[in-house]
Parts: sequence; structure tokens; C-alpha cells
Amino acid sequence: MEKTRGRRRLKRVLITLAVVGGVLGAAVGGSFAWLWTSADISTVGKARFDNALAVPPLAPSTVDKDGTRVFDLRMQTGSTEFRPGVATPTWGFNGDHLGPTLRAERGERVKVRVRNTLDEASSVHWHGMHLPAAMDGGPHQSVEAGSTWTPRWKVDQPAATLWYHPHPHGATERHVQKGLAGMFLLDDERSERLALPKTYGVDDLPVMVQDVTFDGADLDHGHHFLANTGFLGERTMVNGTLDPYAEVGDERVRLRLLNASTARIYTFGFDDDRSFSLVGTDGGLLAEPAAMNRIQLSPGERAEVVVTMRPGERTVLRSYPWRAGDSWERRFNGGDDSFDVLQLRAAERLRPSPAVPSRLAEDEGLELPEAGDSVRGRHFELRRSGINGRPMAMDRVDETVVRGTTEVWTLRNGGDMTHNFHVHDVQFRVLDVDGKRPEPALRGRKDTVAVPVGSTVRIALRFDGPSDPDTPYMYHCHLLSHEDEGMMGQFVVVDKGQRAGAPPGHAGH
Ligand code: C2O
Ligand code: CU
Ligand code: CU
Repeated sequence: MEKTRGRRRLKRVLITLAVVGGVLGAAVGGSFAWLWTSADISTVGKARFDNALAVPPLAPSTVDKDGTRVFDLRMQTGSTEFRPGVATPTWGFNGDHLGPTLRAERGERVKVRVRNTLDEASSVHWHGMHLPAAMDGGPHQSVEAGSTWTPRWKVDQPAATLWYHPHPHGATERHVQKGLAGMFLLDDERSERLALPKTYGVDDLPVMVQDVTFDGADLDHGHHFLANTGFLGERTMVNGTLDPYAEVGDERVRLRLLNASTARIYTFGFDDDRSFSLVGTDGGLLAEPAAMNRIQLSPGERAEVVVTMRPGERTVLRSYPWRAGDSWERRFNGGDDSFDVLQLRAAERLRPSPAVPSRLAEDEGLELPEAGDSVRGRHFELRRSGINGRPMAMDRVDETVVRGTTEVWTLRNGGDMTHNFHVHDVQFRVLDVDGKRPEPALRGRKDTVAVPVGSTVRIALRFDGPSDPDTPYMYHCHLLSHEDEGMMGQFVVVDKGQRAGAPPGHAGH
């Protein structure tokens, strides 16, 4: 409270100084004016697009006698040449940086052998996956240095673009920034039948966007002292490639956009403002495609878009400045920044692609809960200092939900900085944003939603279990430094009449 009020006052004073400084050229005001004008970043028109986009390999898998698909992920240190001749220390899964794309089908049993060869504990969380709490890879499923953790579960959710990343308590931002992140794609019968671009690496491209700053050879992790959302890099990379271009040989290409940055919000569009079809969000396909020319993604969010190319052309996926937000947010938390993210180069002759289907899923096919089925509401006040006034505590269960029920959660950001909200295990329906029907980009399956300053978002969630009163799932702000500082809470799913157990106060097995 005090901190927030103090910061607001500081903000007001500084803004006044900036105005005064601009008019009078006063020394103090002048230096703030310099801070102000030097705080926004743009790589628009400056990106060279001279590196072919890296496409993470599909992870090999074996099938056990009982039909379980088995993957191996090794967390390791490495070294990556982002720039010619400069070796940057990085971390990766099965390689020097980032990780392979895991792929499985609805109905399959999967098992992942996660081996941690780092010299510190970490974890691997399956972001967006519906699975038992003990397999979730959150802070309670710590994988100690040198040890192996083998979660297994049955994939039981619609086709989607999910991802995986570490979730060690208090160190998630650093582990992700060092390069531990990858995609986990799910398919189902419907997605296999639909006439959408679906050849991985050809007309169906993973696009993991991260922002970086280099400090000599090293990745810089510093936070600007006026930024309160975390690390904001001065340039972007896609799948670990700086200045990337991708050659396209098909008339339509599907981009699976993932904001894998730790704090930056992107507003994606193309340099010529062309419209594209949004076909999927965090947890799966929309009921019908939505045409648009901008899509905003906060950290952790995904969007699947289909863009139509003309033969021989080049177009650039760009991140534009935010459309809303107060001037402080825009200036110091990246809202005024813009990036040329990825150039698409179309071949002179393109293979024809079918039109994007007008229906992608039945309404029921979204498998989202209805507000009318809600048996209880909960309120979450989002503050950097903690959700509902409490910083995260490993041994405290904040919310207990009953297996098989639907709830409506109200997320309120009454503070003065941007947050978002992510819930483990479930895909939720966004009911309204400040009382209004959500825009098309928020009408599909979601596990992460932005909650801008001053706004209220209501979501409906259904908890289908299995119950485990002793092992919590997390909900948190996905601005990773906020999460690390304690902007996270824990919930358990119990059977009717059951009570929450007592999770251990430390990360363990
Ligand atoms: Cu993507 Cu709790 O995380
Ligand atoms: Cu998650
Ligand atoms: Cu936050």
C-alpha cells in the first residue's frame, strides 16, 4: 500500500518535472526529460533479417509396451553463437539453448524423463496442460541438480500450442532467460482433419518471441530502474535467432506465436497492416477464425494465426506500441517500444493453400465452462507485493476448490502497473473485461490473461481433478520477476467434503 502510494507520488512528481523540464530546460527536469526520451526502444526498420529462422526440432520419442509415449529432456548448460564469433553462455534442453518441440495426441499417455544436469535445482512445468498436480512441474516438483524426475499423464484436452519452462521458486525468471523453454504441441482428431496449414517447420511455424540485451558476450538480466515489470530487452529474437527471416513456399502460413519473454507485452501485426486470421489461443482452436490486424500477447500467452502471402513478397511480423496504458506504463514498461520481429519471404511460386475453414470447433467443442454453472466466486486482488495482500508461501494453501465444479474468479488490478494472471491445470473462459464482452482474441480457451492497470477481468474455470489435497497447483502473475517476488498463490483440488492438506514448506519431491 505504502509502496504503491509512494510510487504514485514519485510518478506524479517526475511527470511534472518532465513537463517543466521540457518547457524551462531546468537541469533536473532536463535529465528526466532525457530519461524519458531515451526510454523507448525501436528496432523497426533496423533489423537486418540476415539469419534463417531456427525451427526447434521435434523431440524424438519412443513408445513403451503399454503404449506410453516417452520423451527425454536434459537440462544442460551450453554456449550459443547468437552473433558471429561471440559465444554466449546459455542453458537449454537437449542442446545449448531452448528445447525441442514435444508433440502428442489427445488420448495418449505420455511420460517425460527430465534430467537436470545443471548445478542447481530447477523444475519443468507444462504450461497449459491439464494434468495431476504432482506432474505439473511447479515449485513443489523440484528437480535437484543431478537428479531425474519422470512425470506421466494422459493427454486429455483439445489440440493446442502449449509450452514448457522451469518453475523453481524465486528463480523462474533467470532460468527462462538463460534459455530453458520449449513448445509442447497437442493434436486431436479435429485438428488433424481441419484444412489449416499443419506441416511443422514448413507452413506451420513455431514463433517463440523473447527479448534480449547483451552485456558483452553475456545475456544481460538487469532491470531498468524505472521499469517495474521486470527485464525489458533492447531487441527481440525468435526461437533464439536474432534478425530472423523465414522462407515460405505456401500461400498460407500458420504462425504459432508464443510470448516467452519474462516481462514484455507484444502487440503483433504486420508491417503493411494486412489482416490475418486468428485461429487459436492459449488452449486451442477458436470456434471460428477472427480477422484482425493486431494481437496483443502478454508473457506466457499464445496465439495461432494464419497469414496469406503473395508470391515473391516480403513482409515483416512487427510488434507495435500498445494502444492503451497510461503514459508512464507506456514509456517505462515497454508500451512505446516497437520491434521488427520476423521477416517472411515468399517464394516466387507458392503452393496453393485451402481457405481457412469458417468453423474450427463446435461451440461445445471449446470445452469451456459456463458462468451459469458456477458454484462459487473468488476475488483476486493483483499487487506486486502479493495476491490478495499475501506473498506466496510454499506451505500455505490459499484456495481449495472442489473437483468437478465450476467457479467464477474476479481478477482486479487496482494498482499502478501491468500484471497478467495465469492458472495451472485449467483452460478458462474470459467472461468479461471491465463488464464488457471480451474481444475475439479472448473468446477462446485461455490459461493466461492480461489484467491492465485499473481493470477487472472475470473468468470461469472448471476443475476436473484428479483431487490431491496435499499437492497444490499455482496461479500467478506471469511477469516472471513478479512471480519470483511472490505474486503467486496455491490452490488444491479436493473431493467434495475433503479438506486441504499441508504442502511442505520447501521445494521437494
Ligand atoms: Cu508458465 Cu506457472 O507458468
Ligand atoms: Cu503454467
Ligand atoms: Cu505482475
